[in-house]
Amino acid sequence: IAIGLRSGDCREWYYVGVDVGTASVRAALVTREGQVKTTAEEMVTIWKPHSDHYVQSSIDIWAKCCSTVRKVTQGVQRNQVRGVGFDATCSLVVLDQNFQPVAVNLDVQRFNYVFVKISPPLSVALCVGEAERNVVMWMDHRAAEQAARITSTGHRVLSRVGGVMSPEMQPPKLLWLKENLRATCWRDAAHFLDLPDFLSWKATASLARSLCTVVCKWTYCPTEKWDTSFWTAIGLEDLLENDHSKIGNVTCCPGSPVGEGLTQEAAAELGLDTGTAVGASLIDAHAGGLGVIGADVRGFSLPCEDQPITSRMAMICGTSSCHMAVSCQGPLFVPGVWGPYLSGMVPELWLNEGGQSATGSLIDHVVKGHVAYPQLQEQAVKGGEHIYTYLNRHLSSMAKDLGAPLELLASSLHVWPDFHGNRSPLADPTLRGAVVGLPLSQTLDDLALLYLATVQALALGTQHILEAMTQAGHDITTLFLCGGLSKNPLYVQIHANATGLPLVLPAQTEAVLVGAAVLGACASHDYSSILEAMEKMAKVGKVVQPDHELWSFYRKKHSVFLRLHVHQREYMALMND
Ligand SMILES: *[C@@H]1O[C@H](CO)[C@@H](O)[C@H](O)[C@H]1NC(C)=O
Ligand SMILES: *[C@@H]1O[C@H](CO)[C@@H](O)[C@H](O)[C@H]1NC(C)=O
Repeated sequence: IAIGLRSGDCREWYYVGVDVGTASVRAALVTREGQVKTTAEEMVTIWKPHSDHYVQSSIDIWAKCCSTVRKVTQGVQRNQVRGVGFDATCSLVVLDQNFQPVAVNLDVQRFNYVFVKISPPLSVALCVGEAERNVVMWMDHRAAEQAARITSTGHRVLSRVGGVMSPEMQPPKLLWLKENLRATCWRDAAHFLDLPDFLSWKATASLARSLCTVVCKWTYCPTEKWDTSFWTAIGLEDLLENDHSKIGNVTCCPGSPVGEGLTQEAAAELGLDTGTAVGASLIDAHAGGLGVIGADVRGFSLPCEDQPITSRMAMICGTSSCHMAVSCQGPLFVPGVWGPYLSGMVPELWLNEGGQSATGSLIDHVVKGHVAYPQLQEQAVKGGEHIYTYLNRHLSSMAKDLGAPLELLASSLHVWPDFHGNRSPLADPTLRGAVVGLPLSQTLDDLALLYLATVQALALGTQHILEAMTQAGHDITTLFLCGGLSKNPLYVQIHANATGLPLVLPAQTEAVLVGAAVLGACASHDYSSILEAMEKMAKVGKVVQPDHELWSFYRKKHSVFLRLHVHQREYMALMND
């Protein structure tokens, strides 16, 4: 049968990518050439039972995976779908020994409920009670104190996360559950899974963990495995029992086939064939990286052509941004940058993961908080434009009046962009934003200039990360952008002009979904490796070249940028004196 299927026309082969983001589940049907045919989206529920607590339900999430996959595969035969790949936020899912949800809330009203299996999957989400709220979301900061305690152990595994344990990683969340829900959640839990691995388990019944999740968020190391001394030092030695059965004793590379493919049950729920290949999952940002970084760039005269993939950096730019670079000649340690993570994104390569905590959210914050924002909205609505399209056009016309490149408009307005702390390369969550050069007027022009200076500051922040990576041994010549912000041409062009590097935008704007589909394609063995699948499926859409005339302008702005940070540290020291 397998041979019969394989001999089918490969032009009619498809892969399904499923992306479980913070607020919604999206699915896409993707061709062998990486073209997105159809997409579907459904919102997922987020509960916020306490400040800093963000909770979801794995039942709700899976139900939305099933309904979106059913929608996007409606127009094709089941046997045309050759593989499925999942990516998700790095949230923590808790299940008991019968694989039923275990609540992660304080003060859960425990009630007996009969788990009725409703055949797929419509009404499942309707009966999500408190007991089924079993996902501690990635952005849940309940374990901040536990994270600080783990950091203070100074354990050697911390060297792979820039020396600081984030409350968004799993060990502090696990420790919180043990310390706060010992008699309930901790007692009942038999399986702790990263959300991407929960999805592949749900699809295949295999508990194999993707190296992406356990390496990037659980301190696992492919060569040294789980570090016993670490788990003992932080007080979670119980997780070592029974060969780590609660946190995973089998791992695999992203994109490798999991189990025997879709189980009969999952296939029925998703509307696909039993045995359809499922690739080991990725965290969402990493799927975005996979969706762009391996593109075939021949014919675009880019400096990374015919160079190893290590000359590229993927930037996933949304509300926050991630800066992903890989190395092959051994691990590189970059201060303030997560990793090196072996096989964390591309199998066999070391991943370094830099980031900016607030990017799209900073731009929104600055623009929407300005006194002239209502006026901006009014103008944009009048012209039927998006506010950022309007602002970009407005800046161009201001530049025309000035007779100079647009960027020079912000020569004397400088922003330090870390309103939400600095993730990379300073790894200092106490830093705050700064603006220097404000006038005594708050017109729409002033709003546009502040927006421009903010975007420039974000690009200079990227340059700052690039410099730290270069110093540690990376040699990056081309940037590959995806995510919501990559749709803003001003943000894109300023990144090219300020870093002096050419920048590639993907042909498919939904690069994360393409990345997830690459996992399914790789698992199906239709491509021989993830590198080949990326090369064939991640297509270049547009190349943006930097304007080298502006290089000296940005060198000056960069000097100011660095000083804004030095000065801020001085102010803190003065006040703490
Ligand atoms: C590995 O983990 C699985 C799943 O939790 C468990 O059933 C199994 O006993 C573990 N393997 C060993 C050798 O302990
Ligand atoms: C960046 O460089 C381009 C290409 O030379 C130039 O046209 C543009 O005005 C510059 N800035 C922006 C924001 O586009």
